[in-house]
Amino acid sequence: MKKFTIETLADIISWIRNQVEINNSPGHVIEFIVSNPDLGIGRYSGELNSKKLPHRSLKNWQDLAEYLDCRLLLPQPVDEMWVKIRLQIVDKNEDWHHQHFPDKSEKYGANSTYFRINKLEEPTFLFDYTRLLQQIQIKPGWRVLNLGVNKGDEFVALKNVMARDCFESLELTGIDFSQSAIDVARNRFSGKNHRFICADINTLANLSLGQFDLIISIGTLQSPGIDRQNLLRQLVQAHVGAESALIFGFPNSRYFDGEIKYGAHVKNYSEPELSLLVKDIMFYKKYLQQHKFKVQVSGKYYILLFAIR
Ligand SMILES: C[S@@+](CC[C@H](N)C(=O)[O-])C[C@H]1O[C@@H](n2cnc3c(N)ncnc32)[C@H](O)[C@@H]1O
Repeated sequence: MKKFTIETLADIISWIRNQVEINNSPGHVIEFIVSNPDLGIGRYSGELNSKKLPHRSLKNWQDLAEYLDCRLLLPQPVDEMWVKIRLQIVDKNEDWHHQHFPDKSEKYGANSTYFRINKLEEPTFLFDYTRLLQQIQIKPGWRVLNLGVNKGDEFVALKNVMARDCFESLELTGIDFSQSAIDVARNRFSGKNHRFICADINTLANLSLGQFDLIISIGTLQSPGIDRQNLLRQLVQAHVGAESALIFGFPNSRYFDGEIKYGAHVKNYSEPELSLLVKDIMFYKKYLQQHKFKVQVSGKYYILLFAIR
């Protein structure tokens, strides 16, 4: 079995790439032996460990797997000094973008692959989103709107960070054009303080919703059918008040075969391309700043734009 000792990371990547070329089929496992990451605790990547070998942490191997479209299987200790790294090639065609639904509004519905995703089980999203919810200091009785609510995960996170009586005093409104997702969301929340509306976000003006203290929209605003300029104008003119907060989330990742890969995906580009994402975020940021919001941008696999007056 291949064993790496003093080689550089570039040498290792070149060897792995070669292995992928030889057998590029989903599920194939590439194995090699490297120095035990625990021998280099406190060392930076490539710095010599206690056995005078370049240190590479588990995070290094995880990052490398992600960039090479592999998943890191559990490394196996060989002895105190060496571990076997196992990278499994993932199936890049195994994602919901390849699923066809005659009714386009069901692309993210209960029968879609997307529906299996739970962002509240992803550490980076959970940390970033929860931190913003805590920063806002939501008050009893607030009206909260979620555009593209799907099965209601963002409301679940809200429930988890708030005292029960305060959560129950909120007035929650979720909108999505997937009827099956809305049905699941309705069943998930038992209180009377919520309503889930099956409607097109482009027609908000017809829904007589009034003003909200917090507006959330995660992974929805850049959907192809949404007129973002009109929507943002409509939100600012009709649905935000003097002290409202907004949280907009933009995917900077792609899901396939159970994995998440960093970087916004753009049609016809095989590699991540962030220009459109950056342009979109700057559009929202500038518009909101012009309307007297203070805007922060954070996040990793999801870029979260947080705006408050
Ligand atoms: C990528 S999903 C995000 C769902 C959820 N916010 C999350 O982050 O898991 C986008 C959601 O927006 C909904 N959606 C997209 N365009 C819409 C539109 N024009 N009107 C209403 N809902 C829309 C989809 O049905 C889907 O549930």
